[in-house]
Amino acid sequence: MSKNKYLIAANWKQNCDSKSSTKLINDFVKLFNKTKPKCDVLILPPSIYLDTILTRLNKLKVPLKKISLGIQNISPFLNGAYTGEISVDMAKDFKCSYSLIGHSERRHVFMESDKIISAKTKLSLESGMNTILCVGETIAEYNQKQTKEVILRQLKTALLKSKDLFKSDQDKIIIAYEPVWAIGSGKTASLDDIADVHAYIRNTLNKILGTKKNTIKILYGGSVNDLNAASILKIPDVNGALVGGASLNSKKFIDICSSI
Ligand code: PGA
Repeated sequence: MSKNKYLIAANWKQNCDSKSSTKLINDFVKLFNKTKPKCDVLILPPSIYLDTILTRLNKLKVPLKKISLGIQNISPFLNGAYTGEISVDMAKDFKCSYSLIGHSERRHVFMESDKIISAKTKLSLESGMNTILCVGETIAEYNQKQTKEVILRQLKTALLKSKDLFKSDQDKIIIAYEPVWAIGSGKTASLDDIADVHAYIRNTLNKILGTKKNTIKILYGGSVNDLNAASILKIPDVNGALVGGASLNSKKFIDICSSI
């Protein structure tokens, strides 16, 4: 992955079926080939359709360097008797080069603790995956002005044990700042708040790494769409976006990718 490129990631969540995911990737690849966006593009489909999407990308002769594949969640264990879980190595079998860890829906709907997220982050980095760690505050935390405190805790618990795994190759870890209240709500954080929090994340990463400067990508997520992407992506320290709802529409998603 090139250092100075933006990363735009499509998080399809638990949406689509076999037919509609095939149509979505076909439509997107057509627009992608026409538009040739300058950013790195990542698709995170439901894991049961990874093979479908991989097969389509191969058939359409799209190199996985141009449109990468990722898994939305991994097991905190390497392998064994963990019914329903998918290991990081299984994801690699389907050519996933990214994993998404600690998404707010995992934290708040599936009650994943900081400890579990820390274990997943470590496992993902150890396996060589490009690891996207999601952080963000709830609306109650936002109203109580606890955003930075929450983010500091989430970053420290997830990264302190794993920092040696990405210190010398900072492309390996990516932070996604997603205010929980902005996800799927149609409300994005204000441009000032995004700038402030991203700068805070950048500084915190410096402290964690014991450096003065780092090149870790910091994505913004939460109701990013084709209309607001350009202004969000212009903010310093915003190095891309994690897109949910709008990524299910090939036209909207390519417009986001092309807005850089
Ligand atoms: P949204 O989701 O774009 O639908 O708000 C973003 C995410 O949860 O990653």
